[in-house]
Amino acid sequence: MLKIVKRLPIAMSVIAIGFLIVQIICALWLPLVTADIVNIGIKTSDIDFIWSKGYLMIALSVCSMIGAICNTYLFSRISYKLGGELRSDIYRKALRFSKHEFDKIGTSSLITRNTNDVTQVQTLVEGGLKFLILAPAMLIGGIVMTYLLSPTLALVFLCAVPFLAISYFVIYRFASPLYTKMQKLLDNLNQFFREGLTGVKVIRAFGKEEQEYEKYKAVNREYTKNYITAGTIMSVSIPLVTMFVSLATVIIVWVGGKGVESGTIEVGSIMSAISYSIQILMGFGMLTNVILAIPRGQISAKRINEVLDMPVGINDPEQAIKAENSTLTFENVDFRYQGAERKTLENINLTVSVGQTLAIIGGTGDGKTALVNLISRLYDVEKGSVKIGGTDIRDMEQKTLHGLVSYSPQKSTLFFGTIRSNMLMGKPDATDGEIWAALDMAHATEFIRTLPGGLDSAVEKGGGNFSGGQKQRLCIARALLKDASIYVFDDSFSALDFKTDGEVRRAMRGKLQDAITVIVAQRIGTVMDADAIAVIDNGKLAGFGSHEELKATNPVYRQIIDSQFYKEEAAV
Ligand SMILES: Nc1ncnc2c1ncn2[C@@H]1O[C@H](COP(=O)(O)OP(=O)(O)OP(=O)(O)O)[C@@H](O)[C@H]1O
Ligand SMILES: [Mg+2]
Repeated sequence: MLKIVKRLPIAMSVIAIGFLIVQIICALWLPLVTADIVNIGIKTSDIDFIWSKGYLMIALSVCSMIGAICNTYLFSRISYKLGGELRSDIYRKALRFSKHEFDKIGTSSLITRNTNDVTQVQTLVEGGLKFLILAPAMLIGGIVMTYLLSPTLALVFLCAVPFLAISYFVIYRFASPLYTKMQKLLDNLNQFFREGLTGVKVIRAFGKEEQEYEKYKAVNREYTKNYITAGTIMSVSIPLVTMFVSLATVIIVWVGGKGVESGTIEVGSIMSAISYSIQILMGFGMLTNVILAIPRGQISAKRINEVLDMPVGINDPEQAIKAENSTLTFENVDFRYQGAERKTLENINLTVSVGQTLAIIGGTGDGKTALVNLISRLYDVEKGSVKIGGTDIRDMEQKTLHGLVSYSPQKSTLFFGTIRSNMLMGKPDATDGEIWAALDMAHATEFIRTLPGGLDSAVEKGGGNFSGGQKQRLCIARALLKDASIYVFDDSFSALDFKTDGEVRRAMRGKLQDAITVIVAQRIGTVMDADAIAVIDNGKLAGFGSHEELKATNPVYRQIIDSQFYKEEAAV
């Protein structure tokens, strides 16, 4: 929490606290004036005195109001600005995360942290700044002012303080753990909800609506139960405080009455003491809300800091080296997903040069995606190195590296917007002509021409309004549009029919003749004309060479050929 408090703008906070002090002073002064009117003005029937004190009261009320409006405005501004900053910092940090960190925190939790947790902190800062000062000031000020009027009456307030303190401590002590738990449950709740929504088609197809709903319901029930328990504990606080303060008021009237009888206390002083008790009550009523927000805010702050302080696994080197892009080399590369028992890739050695196409073939789960992910440092190697033009990619600035590599992921990823906005991610200053040329190479022109909006046709979130093959073509086109030195296509041709697959690869050749092309595929047809083929078998390099060489000498490759020809024949 302290870290977040440090972010507050000092000057503005001081001004806001200044206005708050004005409000407090005026509010504490008012009952004193009332006491004067009663004790002196009415007693001596001095009308002028009463009028002058009346004007003073009006002035004090106006000042108090101005102070209240200004400090409320400033405190809101400070807290909302803080919220905005936290949100953008979390987002910026998340964009720097490698996939390791995403795997660790989880997307749902990141979303909750960026929305709910930030709101909690915002609420706490807004209320905390104000009421953590206001309530104690009212209490202490009220007691001091009452003391000035009558030490006996002040004693009554003083006796109420330990009770107030104890009740707040107890509430805090019991409610706080519940709020910690609640935040975690909210994460789970969001995760279930998200998964249910994104997987709704599959859930329906398998008729699992009931089971999924039951799972969600269980978490929801626990969350609700927790909330009710915490709410119940918290709701005790207001009546408790009211009771203590009211009791104090009754005692004041009683003690005061006796004092008036014996002539030691004046009626005006009792009236003022009652006013102070009301002010104290109001201050503490609002403090309850803040006390309620403290455990939540603290936990939220911790969760936010967890994201902000998380070390980013993949960083830029101190001194970046500029790379030439003549070759792409894997040297004794081992790789393992964080926490995985087994290495996903082991001892991979291969090299390709400019103008060449490297094809990677292998069975499902053998590590092809893992291999190409290493090229753009989505993950880092465990041992060995990946080099571009002889330079270890870890010695390059990530920006440079990302500029060198163009990538079409296995899972076609499109963003909400238009076809043009998606394409421009590849090359922000591309002309329409260039975009169409790239789309042409990817054989995407045909279906886009039929859309009424052309390049400005809408793309829904995740490219939901396009078929799998169409999405794949758009992703290929986007990768081709970028001017890069290494083009990586991870299983990008799988949804294309054989004929289109071949045509697209032929069309690409012109653009990619001065680059290195890496194609991941499962089909022999897609890889056979590559300059070099890497056969990945269970994370190891089982063969490296041209189609003819591998066909003649490599048993794993032969096996793949056999299985595919068999399949194709069977399909005929
Ligand atoms: N995020 C992850 N965390 C842990 N293990 C993973 C993760 N992603 C993949 N794996 C494991 O790593 C292995 C290699 O996965 P990879 O995605 O590289 O396979 P692939 O060869 O690309 O398969 P496919 O042809 O199905 O795309 C798999 O056995 C998989 O279980
Ligand atoms: Mg893959």
